[in-house]
Amino acid sequence: MDRTFLMVKPRAVRDGLTGEILAALEQGGFRIVGLASRKLSVEEAHVFYDVHVGKPFFGALVEFVTSGMTVGVMLEAPDAVMALRAFIGATDPAKAKPGSIRGKYGKSMTENAVHASDAPARVKHESAFHFGDCPRTLAG
Ligand code: CDP
Ligand code: MG
Repeated sequence: MDRTFLMVKPRAVRDGLTGEILAALEQGGFRIVGLASRKLSVEEAHVFYDVHVGKPFFGALVEFVTSGMTVGVMLEAPDAVMALRAFIGATDPAKAKPGSIRGKYGKSMTENAVHASDAPARVKHESAFHFGDCPRTLAG
């Protein structure tokens, strides 16, 4: 059993989809072990998305991800990182499988519903803004 990090992005939070997304994750076999809402600052978004600095979509992405509340979720499952990436579907909701989280709840390429860490080494980096050094977890 290992852990990964998911973030419900501001559009899905604004649209009132957080509860449905959390339910889908639980029904999909992921156990919620941490939950925290937070509005990211522009500086935090630059660190969160450090791998995308300089790309053409970076400015719009930072503007979007800092536009409102996000909900950070720590999840536990076998092979959690890869299993969650498969479960959320492709980045572009138009290309994501209809039953996947991004396929069901995403509005556009930029305003897709959720972020998920794509490698175990990224989980700590990306979860730091919601959980920091003092993890507010439900189950250790
Ligand atoms: O989120 P994921 O890891 O699937 O995709 P990414 O390539 O790491 O890109 C991070 C985020 O940037 C995406 O989830 C989109 O919100 C946004 N993006 C975009 O707006 N336009 C692109 N061409 C690529 C990504
Ligand atoms: Mg990514």
